[in-house]
Amino acid sequence: MSRRGRFITLEGGEGVGKSTNLALVADWLEARGLEVVRTREPGGTSRAEAIRALLLDPDGEEPLDHDAELLLVFAARAQHLARQIRPALARGAWVVCDRFTDATFAYQGGGRGIEVSRIAELEAFVQRGLEPDLTLLLDMPMEAAQQRLEGRLDRDGGERDRFERERASFFEAVRQAYLARAAAAPGRMVVIDASADLPTVQARLLSELETRVASWG
Ligand SMILES: Nc1ncnc2c1ncn2[C@@H]1O[C@H](COP(=O)(O)OP(=O)(O)OP(=O)(O)O)[C@@H](O)[C@H]1O
Ligand SMILES: [Mg+2]
Repeated sequence: MSRRGRFITLEGGEGVGKSTNLALVADWLEARGLEVVRTREPGGTSRAEAIRALLLDPDGEEPLDHDAELLLVFAARAQHLARQIRPALARGAWVVCDRFTDATFAYQGGGRGIEVSRIAELEAFVQRGLEPDLTLLLDMPMEAAQQRLEGRLDRDGGERDRFERERASFFEAVRQAYLARAAAAPGRMVVIDASADLPTVQARLLSELETRVASWG
């Protein structure tokens, strides 16, 4: 009988290297013969991506209410879980996701100031006990991550989204909320120092991944 697949998430603020390193993690797992689903939040299915567009669209005349933002994040997550994540795990695939609920605690909790208990209620309602098996938190000072982001925007073009337009104090609050989550869940979350050059960060990440995967047998 095939067993449930594993659920791995990458977390961190803007520009820390989540997307770059998601490819590394997924390639590493595939090289071990595993079926891997690469996905992201908010989004991951076409309806959930439509909700993502609503969330990222810069505020015009009608700013998005903070509670509405929180509910949209969880609406997208419910759809993603139902249509993509749960079916994949059930057939034995491994799911590697660029951001998940820790990001909600960091952005809507730390950044927007919504009480942790209200977010936790929605987490329980939507996830019904499902949480990542492993979360790799890429952590680095905000200023350096902003420089990476600017490098990417210069190269690839594109406008800053609703979150990327936030103030420095918002990103600092996001970072601290992420670190607090990691301190409270040391069994699930691993903090990776993401400030070094890419080969160094990738070596750190693969070493943590290898250790965890080996411990699962
Ligand atoms: N360790 C590193 N050293 C230097 N540059 C890096 C490093 N890791 C990633 N980068 C570069 O920094 C930029 C941001 O990386 P990436 O897009 O992976 O970050 P992200 O966390 O996914 O960002 P976002 O929050 O916007 O999705 C990219 O141009 C990437 O090539
Ligand atoms: Mg990214």
